[in-house]
Amino acid sequence: MKLEPHQVAVITGGASGIGFALAAALAQRGLHLALLDVEQPALDAAAERLRALHTPFGPPRVEALCCDVSDAEAMQAAANEILSRCNRVDLLVNNAGVGGALGPQWLSQPQDWQWVMNVNVFGVANGIRAFVPAMLQQQGSAGHVVNIASIAGLTAPPFLSPYVAAKHAVVGMSESLAAELQYMGPQIRVSVVCPGGVQTRIMQSERNRPAELKVAPRTPPELLAKIKAAFEQLMRDPMPADELAGIVLAGIERDDFYILTHADHAPEAQARADRVVQAAKAAAA
Ligand SMILES: NC(=O)c1ccc[n+]([C@@H]2O[C@H](COP(=O)([O-])OP(=O)(O)OC[C@H]3O[C@@H](n4cnc5c(N)ncnc54)[C@H](O)[C@@H]3O)[C@@H](O)[C@H]2O)c1
Repeated sequence: MKLEPHQVAVITGGASGIGFALAAALAQRGLHLALLDVEQPALDAAAERLRALHTPFGPPRVEALCCDVSDAEAMQAAANEILSRCNRVDLLVNNAGVGGALGPQWLSQPQDWQWVMNVNVFGVANGIRAFVPAMLQQQGSAGHVVNIASIAGLTAPPFLSPYVAAKHAVVGMSESLAAELQYMGPQIRVSVVCPGGVQTRIMQSERNRPAELKVAPRTPPELLAKIKAAFEQLMRDPMPADELAGIVLAGIERDDFYILTHADHAPEAQARADRVVQAAKAAAA
């Protein structure tokens, strides 16, 4: 979709990291922004910073709504509010996400799964359910849905199972959505973004875990420390979020379905795809 001034972009998790960087990049293109986030003070601060930006189109128009993406009713209410304020939605970015607990899968707890699935999977489904029907009704105009998955949605790093499962789900949901829209609303395109490490607050995601889903880790502290150190090593040279935002905007404008941002992960993705294809060929032999 060609990005044009005065289009309306909804960005979940827009108060921090990738969501904020996308909002700032879209503001520079003159889009009207609607940010949804569960962290009210961070959301207010983000909206202020965005409104203060100097852009070729003057001060950006920014709507900011506090909303938990995992709450289907709250998302629908936020969608209704945005549609009544802005009249339309051209670009939906389902970005809100959390990292979740680290550790071996057999020591994970139901609450670890509930939290990560609620935000990272149901949050995306709720965004699509709340906004796509209205986007389909905007006869004749192009639209775009961007789901922020992860390279962990195409590969399977260990000790991060709920996150890996959730991001594989987001890739699959995006593929299905793209095929559905091709039949029923080809004016709306879909992209799924699969980044490697990006400089954000993802490693401090626990700040947003609801009190009722907080649990003490069952992974022994010395093992947890080793796993954390390995992840910090993996994240040692993260991409700046504004660089990622530039890549995503270019991908949207080319109507790319897969937007991959870290070439160094290509061998892992290739090796996994090769193993699957080899197994399928072996079954046919
Ligand atoms: N940072 C990375 O290395 C990286 C890599 C691949 C994918 N991603 C994905 O990028 C997306 C954005 O994460 P980030 O790295 O910018 O992290 P971040 O923590 O900086 O930002 C995430 C934002 O989502 C919000 N959020 C969390 N739970 C929410 C909820 N229930 N409802 C509404 N908002 C909620 C947070 O308040 C925050 O503003 C996530 O989906 C993440 O999985 C990040």
